[in-house]
Amino acid sequence: MLLCFAVFECAVSPTGDKLYITSKFDKLLTLARNGTLLATLTDPDLYLPHGIHVTPAGQVLLCGGVPQAILQVGGKGRRKLATLATHKDGVRSPLVVCYSGSTSSIIVGQNGDNILVLRVK
Ligand SMILES: *[C@@H]1O[C@H](CO)[C@@H](O)[C@H](O)[C@H]1NC(C)=O
Repeated sequence: MLLCFAVFECAVSPTGDKLYITSKFDKLLTLARNGTLLATLTDPDLYLPHGIHVTPAGQVLLCGGVPQAILQVGGKGRRKLATLATHKDGVRSPLVVCYSGSTSSIIVGQNGDNILVLRVK
């Protein structure tokens, strides 16, 4: 079997058993440590995805390219759980995302040298 895809960004689950990969043009791939493909998620909100981040609790955060949004995906990589922020919250070409537990915020690095901080409860 030939797995052919372009890797944008990747992240590892806290337990190290899963690898999440955003790929051109509209996919989130979840692989087991041995390389087995566990799940493929395609969603209209996942077109041109960029940065991906896994919180210490195993929540998967993703920068959607078009439409520009910050998304949360289930830990199994099978479905989108929530849209956390969109254009109206100030999301503009998000490239990287990470979660800060100490400040309960999601920090988004965006194209155009700006950083968006979203408070979460
Ligand atoms: C790879 O890992 C998955 C998940 O842990 C497991 O279900 C599968 O049997 C493994 N495959 C091989 C070839 O070891």
